[in-house]
Amino acid sequence: MKILGLVGSPRRGGNTDLLISAVLYGAGAGNNDIDKAYLYDADIMPCVDCRGCKKENFQCTLKDDMKQLYPKLEEADVIVFGTPLYWYGSTGKMKLFIDRLRPYVASGKLKGKKAVIVVPAEEGAEACNCLVQMFELSFKYLGMEFVGKILAKAGEKAEVKGHPEVLDEAFNLGKELK
Ligand SMILES: Cc1cc2nc3c(=O)[nH]c(=O)nc-3n(C[C@H](O)[C@H](O)[C@H](O)COP(=O)(O)O)c2cc1C
Repeated sequence: MKILGLVGSPRRGGNTDLLISAVLYGAGAGNNDIDKAYLYDADIMPCVDCRGCKKENFQCTLKDDMKQLYPKLEEADVIVFGTPLYWYGSTGKMKLFIDRLRPYVASGKLKGKKAVIVVPAEEGAEACNCLVQMFELSFKYLGMEFVGKILAKAGEKAEVKGHPEVLDEAFNLGKELK
């Protein structure tokens, strides 16, 4: 099985990154094929609602680094969406990325794939309700199966290192992915 982790935080080695690594290590322990992509390294333009992706071969017309990310998504069996909570939503970069999933509404190429979310937040899980719902509804719209979430209370960079229980929870979620 192929598992792709998407880091939607600007902080390499931060909480989102560490939690995604824990999920991927867990999944890797089960002999799965794991991969990670840092969204802040990618040039992702905003969707301009040109409707080009509704035509013929359902391709996005924008020319940017989504060209490399689309095949990764299509090859993955499980996609881990990681973003810190920013103003009760995702980071801007993760939102740009999600908007660019529009071609999959028409092509249905993400249908049946599993989705996991990873969200650290200074205020903790309660503050993540709107963001969790956004992901839940979006996965449903894309025909994806929402199979797990890690909501961690953490604010400082790499603070989750001091919370082995949440890293274990992330590792175990990865291990359970089938
Ligand atoms: C612009 C910005 C907005 C934020 N908004 C929230 C928020 O609404 N609620 C919250 O609990 N934490 C908020 N935070 C804190 C981050 O979610 C928290 O520091 C998180 O652990 C960062 O994860 P990272 O290390 O993966 O980047 C915000 C941080 C930034 C920089």
